[in-house]
Amino acid sequence: MLRRREKPLDLSPFTVPTHVAIIMDGNGRWAKRRGLPRQAGHRAGAENLRRIVRACVEFKIKILTIYAFSTENWGRPESEVRGLMKIFARVLDQELDELHHQGVCIHHLGDLTSVNPTLQAKVRRALELTRNNDRLVLNVAFNYGGRAEILHAVRQMLADGLVPDELTEDLFSSYLFTRGLPDPDLVIRTSGELRISNFLIWQAAYAEYYPTPALWPDFGREELYKAIVAYNERERRYGLVSDES
Ligand code: FPP
Repeated sequence: MLRRREKPLDLSPFTVPTHVAIIMDGNGRWAKRRGLPRQAGHRAGAENLRRIVRACVEFKIKILTIYAFSTENWGRPESEVRGLMKIFARVLDQELDELHHQGVCIHHLGDLTSVNPTLQAKVRRALELTRNNDRLVLNVAFNYGGRAEILHAVRQMLADGLVPDELTEDLFSSYLFTRGLPDPDLVIRTSGELRISNFLIWQAAYAEYYPTPALWPDFGREELYKAIVAYNERERRYGLVSDES
């Protein structure tokens, strides 16, 4: 549904990627440019997430994966980590009903066990409440790292007694946090950085990568539309030769 003052954006000539993954970067710089504390940037980032989820539903993207907090982010100053946890808890308190209402099914990627028990309980409640929704899967990578995910999968495979000959790429994928979901088609990174930063390193092997200079709080619905248009200009070859050659 189009909100007042929103520009109509026509996606009919384009293929909409099934699975979009986003490295939401640049909250700190957004705040700095305005002379605000970093926490204000994270708050603006959380508000933008609401806009992007709504745009994904509008554009009929089926899966959105967001990098909310990496295993490395614990190394940030304690006050910033505390501030981020507060935002995550607040978003779960204030946005869950609306997300549920929009048909969003929330999944968690990562390790919840080392997270504050109150926040853990809020996350588990969100997963339980939204588990049967099917308009948009929202994977929240929280306390997530791609290498940690792979190690976790390998440990599990060894514990299950798998023997080397049984192992296939599909079986390996089924041990990852994203089990059962298709790999991302498009990985977006905001704020102009050109790194993958330990995000979906197995799953994004053949994803199209779209870096944009927009800072995360400024990456709105129209920016997402532009990313989809750019995705349509790519030729996905999966290691094969070009159609034109
Ligand atoms: C990067 O900005 C963003 C993060 C550390 C992730 C936190 C994301 C949010 C708060 C957005 C909302 C997410 C949820 C799940 C509610 P940065 O601090 O790395 O920016 P900088 O590189 O400019 O300093």
